[in-house]
Amino acid sequence: MAYRWLVAAHVTADLCFLAGLLATWLLLAVAATSRDPAFAPSARRMRHLTLKVVANGGIVASAATGAALLALNPWLMTQPWLWVKLGLVGVLFGLHGMAAARHRKLGDDSHSGADRGAWRAGVGTAIAALGVFVAVIVRPFG
Ligand code: HEM
Repeated sequence: MAYRWLVAAHVTADLCFLAGLLATWLLLAVAATSRDPAFAPSARRMRHLTLKVVANGGIVASAATGAALLALNPWLMTQPWLWVKLGLVGVLFGLHGMAAARHRKLGDDSHSGADRGAWRAGVGTAIAALGVFVAVIVRPFG
């Protein structure tokens, strides 16, 4: 019973992490197309909230609850789908680091073309998340 509560907390943390990361990519992409310098400081503040509050809070809670689930059910570590999932989670954590680096680099800047790769990185985030969901829900590998 407690285990299922922990899974619910884990999935909620995942939701915050993914929502914050996707919103950050969206704001980075908008910064790349905006020509209005007045937009830049408020865009930076919004990115601060989506990345530093929502995504960072989610990533910490997700890793903590995920580790607790593994401690309660270590048998899962014998399952190939779990390792595929954790590999894809590593990709998502890498994309989170990339978004943080771009957020820092962009600062209050807003010049057009500043971050054209942000759309692609956002789509990559959604595809990696889909892979995680397939691995944990469909469990196609073992
Ligand atoms: C260090 C990070 C993580 C660890 C150690 C971890 C570990 C786990 C474990 C052990 C389970 C329980 C599996 C079960 O009993 O069925 C689980 C469930 C789940 N994880 Fe993670 N996880 C991590 C991050 C993530 C992330 C970032 C996402 C989403 C992008 C995610 C999505 C899910 C989902 C949707 C479930 C629910 C599966 C179900 O019961 O239907 N996890 N995770």
